[in-house]
Amino acid sequence: MKILAIESSCDETAAAVTEERRVLSNIVATQIEEHRLYGGVVPEIASRRHTEAISAVCREALTRAETDFSGIDAVAVTFAPGLIGALLVGVNFAKGVALSANKPLIPVHHLRSHIAANYITHPELKPPFLCLLVSGGNTVLTEVCDYTRFRVLGGTRDDAAGECFDKTARCMGLAYPGGVTLDRIATVADNQKYPLPFPQVHSGEFDFSFSGLKTAVMNLVHNAAQKGEEIDVPVVCATVRRRVCDMLIEKTLRAAEKTGCRQIAIAGGVSANSELRRRMQEECARRGYSLYLPDLAFCGDNAAMVGVQGYYEWQSGNVAAASLNAAATMPITYR
Ligand code: KG4
Repeated sequence: MKILAIESSCDETAAAVTEERRVLSNIVATQIEEHRLYGGVVPEIASRRHTEAISAVCREALTRAETDFSGIDAVAVTFAPGLIGALLVGVNFAKGVALSANKPLIPVHHLRSHIAANYITHPELKPPFLCLLVSGGNTVLTEVCDYTRFRVLGGTRDDAAGECFDKTARCMGLAYPGGVTLDRIATVADNQKYPLPFPQVHSGEFDFSFSGLKTAVMNLVHNAAQKGEEIDVPVVCATVRRRVCDMLIEKTLRAAEKTGCRQIAIAGGVSANSELRRRMQEECARRGYSLYLPDLAFCGDNAAMVGVQGYYEWQSGNVAAASLNAAATMPITYR
């Protein structure tokens, strides 16, 4: 079954053609350079750029897959969660294509598609497994019971892990997207120079909290500026990265122990983090767990993962009516 998949939930306009888990084409038009001017995503600009790019991106995806609308069996689209104006561009475009080409329309939840990035990289991966989903807007620890059935164990109480990286990087003057820059320059081993907190969550065994760490870094940077002192940016970056990874890794391993899941996957933009990947590989090898990491090309937002998840949504009978709407927030267990 060939699927034309469309993704526009944040700052990448993306389209892909997939066939079950195979990626026939994958086109991503990123807006990062433009948002970099403002230090973060400007929603209104994101929507306008999606509107400008979406036709050409879809055409390119079809051309690279050596097909056209007549060779497609269905259209899959990210409908939630994300920036509402950005999502609406993809949803409305997909509705138009599905209606005019007389193809079914498959709604895809953004976080489910990030998990599906692992199905592309690891053809042997099948549920059930445990997944740590870490992106710019979400941090969720979930059991993937089946391709479209999830049992959420915990999530962030405040900021997402990616947001913590982005905001701390921004207050140190690092370029957007901060998580990427912070990871690159955190080359100095963590030391005791800056006693940044390890944020605690007192109830909710598998919940996370990152806002305390973010505030501590902002206070550190602002206090140093007021006193005219220099901060050691690579050391702060290494310490922030260590604290975030400590929390993500500790809770994930504890969840694996408690649930008995021996297969663990990581997904979302932050799954590209070099320390998270390295330490999870070491910890899982020590315990005899199988670890699945998406190929770096599929960690960030892309439409190939939407097409692959779309296939499983289709198999479970999830087809949208022409009245499909976008939603800024939506739990992964919505259906
Ligand atoms: O999944 P994604 O592309 O978009 C969302 O759906 O949110 O994730 C983007 C997030 C940003 O916060 C970005 O800074 C972070 O992923 N990110 C990283 C790395 N690469 C991307 N964070 C830490 N280390 C990285 N190497």
